[in-house]
Amino acid sequence: MNILVTGGTGYIGSHTCVELIKAGHDVVIVDNLCNSKIEVLDYIKEITGYTCKFYECDILDREGLQKVFTENKIDSVIHFAGLKAVGESCAKPLMYYRNNISGTVILCEVMAEFGVKSIVFSSSATVYGIPKEVPLKEDFPLSTTNPYGSTKLMIEGILKDLYNADNEWDITVLRYFNPIGAHESGLIGEDPNGIPNNLMPYITKVASKQLPCLGVFGNDYPTPDGTGIRDYIHVVDLADGHVKAIDHMDGYQVFNLGTGVGYSVLDLVNAFIKVNGVDVPYEIKDRRPGDIAENFADATRAKEVLGWTAKYGVEDMCRSSWNFTVKALERKSK
Ligand code: NAD
Ligand code: WQD
Repeated sequence: MNILVTGGTGYIGSHTCVELIKAGHDVVIVDNLCNSKIEVLDYIKEITGYTCKFYECDILDREGLQKVFTENKIDSVIHFAGLKAVGESCAKPLMYYRNNISGTVILCEVMAEFGVKSIVFSSSATVYGIPKEVPLKEDFPLSTTNPYGSTKLMIEGILKDLYNADNEWDITVLRYFNPIGAHESGLIGEDPNGIPNNLMPYITKVASKQLPCLGVFGNDYPTPDGTGIRDYIHVVDLADGHVKAIDHMDGYQVFNLGTGVGYSVLDLVNAFIKVNGVDVPYEIKDRRPGDIAENFADATRAKEVLGWTAKYGVEDMCRSSWNFTVKALERKSK
C-alpha cells in the first residue's frame, strides 16, 4: 500500500516508516520539521535502502496537502504530526489546539476531498487522566489534566464523530504508553533539543555527562519503591503496532499499545546502569505537578484483534537508547 505518514521524520514516525518499508509498503512523508531533522530521511534510506518521498509541509497548509494527494495515490494515512510537550502546552494552549486539532481537521478534510478515508491516529495514555485502577482498558473513563492531553481526547472525539457521520471511514486510534528506545542501527532515535522533559532522554543526557544529575520526581508514591510506575514500550514494537493496525483497518477502533508491565523510575534507572555499565547520578526531588503514581496498559485487545504484542524488554530499551545516544554524539562531533 501507499501510506502517507504525517510527522514521519519524528521519533515514532521515523521508526514506523522503517517498519512499513520492511513490510513492503511505499511511504510518503509530510513533516514541517518543527521538531525533527531532514537527515532522518538519509538514515531511513541507510537502514532500509528505500528513499521515502518527502514533502516539507505543514498540515495546517491545505494547498500543500492537496498537492501531496494530487501527486500521490494514497491508500491510508498514519497521522503522527503534532506537538507533544505537556509543559509547553500549559504555557501555550492555543498553539497546541491550533496545531494538533486544526491540523487534524484540515488533514481529514483533504483526505475526504481525495476519497482517502483510512487513518491511524497517534493518541496517548494521557487520555485516561488520573486512573482509578490499573491496568488501563480502552473502555475506561477518559479525562485529561493538561492542554496537550485535551488535544488528543478532542481529536479522538472528532474522529469518532467523523466515523458516525460516514461509515466508509476506517479509523484506528492507538493510545501509546511511554515509548523509549531506538532502532538497533543507532541512526534514528529520540534526541530532544535542550533540557528533556521525559525520563529516558534525561537519563541519556546525564549518562553522557551533558547534564549533571537526574532528578527523580518523588519517592513517596504508593508504589513498591515510592517512585512513579509507567509502561515503557520499545519504539520499534510501537512502530510494528502501526504496521499491524494498517493491516486491520475496520471501522472505528481503539487500541492501547503498551507492554502491560509497569516499571518504576528507579527500576528504569537501575536497568540502564546495569545494562550499559555507565553511571547515572540521581537525587530525589519533589513530585512533579500533574504526575500520577502508576499507569500501565491492558493490551489484550491489540493482541486479540491486531495479533500484536510487544517483543522487547526493558533491557533492550535501555541498551538501544544508549547506543543511539553514543552514536548521535559521535555523528555530531564529526
Ligand atoms: P516528534 O515530535 O518526534 O514527532 C512529531 C513530528 O511531527 C515532528 O517531526 C514534527 O516536526 C512534526 N510536526 C509537528 N507539527 C506539525 C505540523 N503542523 N505539520 C507537519 N509536521 C508537524 O514526536 P513523537 O514522539 O514521534 O510523537 C508522534 C506522535 O505521537 C505525536 O502526535 C505525539 O503526540 C504522539 N505521542 C507521543 C508519545 C511520546 O511519548 N513520544 C506518547 C503518546 C503519543
Ligand atoms: C515518566 C516517569 C516522572 C523525568 C509523558 C506525557 C504523556 C506521554 C508520555 C505523549 C514519571 C518521572 C521524569 C525526570 C523523573 N506523551 N521522571 N525525572 O509523564 O509518564 O508521560 O510522556 O503523549 O502524555 O505526559 O513520562 O517520561 O515524563 O515521566 O523522575 O526528569 O519518570 O515523574 O514518573 P510521563 P515521563
